[in-house]
Amino acid sequence: MRAVQQQELGGPEVLALVELPEPEPGPGEVVVDVALAGVNFADMHQRRGEYLAPTELPFVPGAEVAGVRRGTGERVVALTGGRGGYAQVAVVAERHCFAVPDAVDDATGLALLVQGLTAWHLLRTAGRLAPGEALVVHAAAGGTGSLAVQLARPLCAAGRVIATASSAEKRALALELGADAAIDGAPEGLAARLAVANSGAPVDVVLDAIGGEVFDASIEALAPFGRLVTYGVSGGRTNTVSTRRLMRAGTGVTGFWLRHCLERPALLGPPLADLFERAARGELRLAAATTYALSAAAQAQRDIAARRTTGKLVLDPAR
Ligand SMILES: NC(=O)c1ccc[n+]([C@@H]2O[C@H](COP(=O)([O-])OP(=O)(O)OC[C@H]3O[C@@H](n4cnc5c(N)ncnc54)[C@H](OP(=O)(O)O)[C@@H]3O)[C@@H](O)[C@H]2O)c1
Repeated sequence: MRAVQQQELGGPEVLALVELPEPEPGPGEVVVDVALAGVNFADMHQRRGEYLAPTELPFVPGAEVAGVRRGTGERVVALTGGRGGYAQVAVVAERHCFAVPDAVDDATGLALLVQGLTAWHLLRTAGRLAPGEALVVHAAAGGTGSLAVQLARPLCAAGRVIATASSAEKRALALELGADAAIDGAPEGLAARLAVANSGAPVDVVLDAIGGEVFDASIEALAPFGRLVTYGVSGGRTNTVSTRRLMRAGTGVTGFWLRHCLERPALLGPPLADLFERAARGELRLAAATTYALSAAAQAQRDIAARRTTGKLVLDPAR
């Protein structure tokens, strides 16, 4: 089968298109003929050996696939557990393989899997967004951010959804998706811009996957009892939090990693079913996914790292 493999850690050039034997399923595993493989920002952390989980070489990257389950013929999406997705055939745990309703196409199903589940849990499980609260979504035109903006709307009701993004086009997209305000996410002056976007008031919940100065500015913008959910370091710098500062401000910081949902079935199947139903009802607008040939996996990762993308990126293993 065709697959992208990494023999070493490094830049996008280490993503090599190769021929590999098909993987064999073990107990509790099933085989998926991959129609599309999802690209996620974390694939780049993993490529460089900087991911939360250690990277063992050689490996086929890719945390999620959409395709057809061998044996049942069902159309499915599946979480690979972090490796094996960038290939024509993937072996996945049966409990991480989910049938996709007819009303949801493969690319939409993939957009709702890692990024959709993350957005869902950021708002509910980790951020506990309540009606009337003001929410900040950084990188709001990205895969995870664009879903968080849309899922937040019914949760915070009359509350305010404030989006940040790096370009006017991305901010326009965030507004179209339902944000009440969209501002430049650059760290300089960010806390002040957030306050202005919230009519001078501090905000209640921030979803931050940028880190560094954006994280610091976001903490500054929080109201007492406000929560910041840290779930990524797209900006490349992790932060240290002062408990004194948290006590004084009466705010909280919580982390989120989707991996902690993998062994908790109630945190995977039901939220995914909810996401599929919302998509089928037309409540979620998913910008058309950008599809790359499997042989162009390096370009897909270059584009997401260069902040050129919006929405979901997928690889077509047939090309
Ligand atoms: N913890 C988890 O379980 C989990 C699960 C899924 C995703 N994540 C994290 O969530 C974040 C978003 O993931 P995604 O796959 O949905 O990607 P994405 O949002 O589609 O793309 C990343 C976005 O981050 C923004 N960004 C800010 N600083 C950046 C920098 N220095 N380099 C590149 N991009 C930068 C860019 O938006 P602007 O140009 O608008 O700033 C870019 O479009 C990532 O940090 C990812 O690791 C975490």
